[in-house]
Amino acid sequence: MGIAEASFDAMGCRAPSLALAAAALVATGPAGAEGDAGKGRRLAIEHCSRCHVIDDYNRFGGIGSTPSFQILAHMPDYLERFQTFYARRPHPTVVNVPGVEAWTKLPAFVVKFTVRPEDIDALVTFVETLRKK
Ligand code: HEC
Repeated sequence: MGIAEASFDAMGCRAPSLALAAAALVATGPAGAEGDAGKGRRLAIEHCSRCHVIDDYNRFGGIGSTPSFQILAHMPDYLERFQTFYARRPHPTVVNVPGVEAWTKLPAFVVKFTVRPEDIDALVTFVETLRKK
C-alpha cells in the first residue's frame, strides 16, 4: 500500500469521529463546559496568578493582600464580580478588554494584559469549578 493510500485509509477511519466532534461543537458551543474551564484555568494561570491564588496551581503564591479565587468564588455575588472584574479596582490599570473603554488612563504599575470577552466567559466557567471544592 502506498503512502497516499495509507493516509487516505487513516482519514477514512477518522472521518466519522470528526463528524461527531463537529456535531458536539454545534450542540455545546465553541468549547463545551469542560473545555472552557480548562481554557479559563490557563488564562487564570497566565494573567491572574501573579496576584491571586487561583487554585492548587499556586496555593502559596499570589500577593498576600489579594483575595484568592477560592474565597471570591464562594461569595454570593461572585458571578458579577468575575464578569466585571476588569472594571473593578485595581484591574483597569492592568487589563485591556477590546471594545471596553477603560475608566482610568493611569499608567499600569505592572505589565498590562488583554482578555477578550469570550476569555472572561472561560474564566467564569473555571471559577465555577472552584465552587464545587
Ligand atoms: C496586578 C495584580 C492583579 C492581577 C494581575 C489580577 N488581579 Fe484581581 N484583584 C487584585 C486585587 C489587589 C484585588 C482586591 C481589590 C480590592 O479588594 O479592593 C482583586 C480583586 C479581584 C476580584 C474581586 C473584585 C471585587 O470587586 O470584589 C476579582 C473577581 C478578580 N480580582 C479577578 C481577577 C481575574 C479574573 C484576573 C485575571 C484575568 C485578575 N483578577 C488579575 C489584583 C490583581
